Amino acid sequence: MTATELNERANAYGTKIFAQITMGLGRNYPNLPAPSSVHVFRHPGEVSPELTHDQIKSKIESVIKAAKIAKDSGFAGVEVHSIHWGYLLDQFALSMMNHRTDEYGGSLENRLRAAKEILEGIKQECGSNYPVSMRLGLKTFVKDFEKATLTGEDEAGRTLEEGIQIAKLLESYGYDCLSVDTGTYDSFYYACPPMYMPKGYLVEMAAKAKEAVNIPILAGGRMNDPDIAEAAIRDGKIDAVVMGRAALADPEYPNNVLTGHTERIRPCIACNQGCITRLQQGKQPTCAVNPTAMREIRFAMRPAIQPKKVVVVGGGVAGMETARVAAMRGHKVSLYEKNDKLGGNLIPGGSHSFKKEVRELNAWYQDELSLLPVEVHTGETVTAKELKGMGADVIVLATGSVPIMPKVPGIDDAKVIGCTPICC
Ligand SMILES: Cc1cc2nc3c(=O)[nH]c(=O)nc-3n(C[C@H](O)[C@H](O)[C@H](O)COP(=O)(O)O)c2cc1C
Ligand code: SF4
Repeated sequence: MTATELNERANAYGTKIFAQITMGLGRNYPNLPAPSSVHVFRHPGEVSPELTHDQIKSKIESVIKAAKIAKDSGFAGVEVHSIHWGYLLDQFALSMMNHRTDEYGGSLENRLRAAKEILEGIKQECGSNYPVSMRLGLKTFVKDFEKATLTGEDEAGRTLEEGIQIAKLLESYGYDCLSVDTGTYDSFYYACPPMYMPKGYLVEMAAKAKEAVNIPILAGGRMNDPDIAEAAIRDGKIDAVVMGRAALADPEYPNNVLTGHTERIRPCIACNQGCITRLQQGKQPTCAVNPTAMREIRFAMRPAIQPKKVVVVGGGVAGMETARVAAMRGHKVSLYEKNDKLGGNLIPGGSHSFKKEVRELNAWYQDELSLLPVEVHTGETVTAKELKGMGADVIVLATGSVPIMPKVPGIDDAKVIGCTPICC
């Protein structure tokens, strides 16, 4: 599908799309030029080559040209990527990564010059009414290269105060809205927050940006709790919510909120395993809780041509997903779990207080199964002979896994415990 077709089809549903255009990656990857020769992320001893003045101008021009192509393809606006996560424009903005002595280094205004020239160029090419957003990390949470600061003290990157100052400058340049978050690659805990990070953690920081500017503030990063999101907007702390991983886990998220069925949202467990980790490994990203993510056409839910009798053995996450999908496709499904509760390894895996989303995922599966014609048998062990007698067309063994205990000296010591709590 071309970009024009994409926009036409989205517009038919009343949906507008912004294209995100990046200036580049810089020191986040090896051998790529950066504003200054600084430490390359995760490559000890390597430094980035420094961008020449001509290269900077050429990159700015490329972003502007790309914005014009986006406009001509029907995108409703563009978002400049980005003064966040330590990407190239962020490297310009951060004094710890920008040691230039020309007009792109030094004062904060100089460090934001590329962002300003990009905005001016886009408005000139696409018209002053064409909306341009910027992603902005309000605080970096780093003490040094590859050293995060959890509490935010000893900040060597961007303080919240500087983040607010940048928001004001971007507004003065003509940016139409800001999509704010926190962190960089060096403090990934803040950039792509895992389940240990409380949902809505950045609302108060975003609210400070909102107080300082008159343009809309969008906030993203663990904002996938409809109550938190609604309260933040209602209280005037932010104007809109941005969601990344929640949309991978459940593309129906917004529809479920709109129809008041928030209990049907499949929770993103903020594990970072299927999505961002695979992306960073150069693999096709997907989602740990939504096997169809990024493979929607291949795994599209189609009614079975010939409904079959399906017996699933094991009521852990794999068994429940198999039963759910098979039943939705019209098969006659029976699910057998030897324990008296469904969930398998989700039960010990979700037992720690901070693993709430794992418990929510287990509850989601059980709720979804209760809405489907699946015969669920808990507390029942089935033997091979019994299985044979069931007349099933398909038997799925989803009996899970048991941990391997390596025979290393000291493994039996009382101080060595498994990762699942004793209670389970
Ligand atoms: C697989 C993946 C790809 C991403 N790609 C981009 C990107 O191209 N541009 C961007 O601004 N953010 C990107 N992000 C970051 C998200 O926009 C977002 O900041 C991050 O996932 C945290 O927000 P969330 O809790 O809503 O997921 C990506 C995140 C993931 C997981
Ligand atoms: S893999 Fe899925 S569940 Fe895990 S963080 Fe990514 S989107 Fe969320």
